[in-house]
Amino acid sequence: MASKVLYFDSVYPEFKEMLQMQNSQDFELLYWTEMNELEKADALAESEYFLVATTKITGDMMKKAAHLRMVQKTGIGYDNIDIKAAAELNIPVCNTPGGNSTGVAELTIAFILNLYRKLNVLDRATKNGEWHMWDYRLQSFELKGKTHGLIGFGNIGKATARLSQAFGTKIIYYDKFRLQEKDEKALNVTYMEMDDLLKNSDIVSIHIPLLPETEGLIGERELALMKNNAILINVSRGKIVNEEALAKALENKTISGAGIDTWANEPVDKNNPLLKFDNVIATPHVGAGTKDTLANILDMCFRNFSAVENGQDPKYVVNGITKARK
Ligand SMILES: NC(=O)c1ccc[n+]([C@@H]2O[C@H](COP(=O)([O-])OP(=O)(O)OC[C@H]3O[C@@H](n4cnc5c(N)ncnc54)[C@H](O)[C@@H]3O)[C@@H](O)[C@H]2O)c1
Repeated sequence: MASKVLYFDSVYPEFKEMLQMQNSQDFELLYWTEMNELEKADALAESEYFLVATTKITGDMMKKAAHLRMVQKTGIGYDNIDIKAAAELNIPVCNTPGGNSTGVAELTIAFILNLYRKLNVLDRATKNGEWHMWDYRLQSFELKGKTHGLIGFGNIGKATARLSQAFGTKIIYYDKFRLQEKDEKALNVTYMEMDDLLKNSDIVSIHIPLLPETEGLIGERELALMKNNAILINVSRGKIVNEEALAKALENKTISGAGIDTWANEPVDKNNPLLKFDNVIATPHVGAGTKDTLANILDMCFRNFSAVENGQDPKYVVNGITKARK
């Protein structure tokens, strides 16, 4: 009998087709969001594999899954999965490192270009019959010659830096782990402590995971260090930035704009004060939301399931459990 893969997030027909296309080993696919409570209980009890994007996976859910062999995240940030509880149950949790870097890096650049050229404002105005041919020129900028500071220099940070450099920016970065000098030279990047990075950047983009130590990392004090004409891009996790402090900084014009893909609470509340600013570009956690990225990460996920099914160890384990549960 085919092993069961339980998929937890929203599905629609084209997406199901895509999942099926990647499912070369013919796992039975179950869709959590289409089930009633009874069916959900059965699905937990029967599934060998969990496949999850952002749905919360609790210890309780994994305890109920007697046949569960591994949990696979379709992406990088696994803060929605109780990895400690999984480890106690001897269940590996895996992600897809590097699999969505291009999508997130390209969205970061799209945010910067959009904010620098006021695309959202000009698009809306032009469609409303307004002709602002001259009005925004002194508030519009080019990337060339600007300093782009990246907080977090892993897969997405590096991919973003490469794209940004193609526009002629100078790259500075801060990360818990500094690169070796020869690698910094090869990549043409400069390391700075976070405060110095905030003071020196025209563009700050965030590419670190949400961890207890990174929650609220960018608050009132950090925003006050930024230049008045600087923009902040958050494509990592909402809770890393204090949203109230960011709204205040935008209100007081101590920074000049923000691109926000990830929010403290998702879906974002329509009354969130950040949504009222013209100089905020808001998206609903779609950093990795392209067909290309999806194909890439689903391929990694199903290859991992197949490996385990064929007796190999899972790849990309994030909770230290290197053997799939039998
Ligand atoms: N918007 C989206 O749709 C989307 C998609 C994918 C990933 N993400 C987010 O982006 C994050 C980064 O992804 P990645 O693929 O580059 O991960 P990665 O693991 O390759 O890189 C993360 C980097 O952050 C650094 N880091 C960790 N803790 C730190 C700390 N306390 N201070 C400074 N640096 C620290 C690490 O050393 C590492 O270099 C993910 O954790 C995820 O939350 C968002």
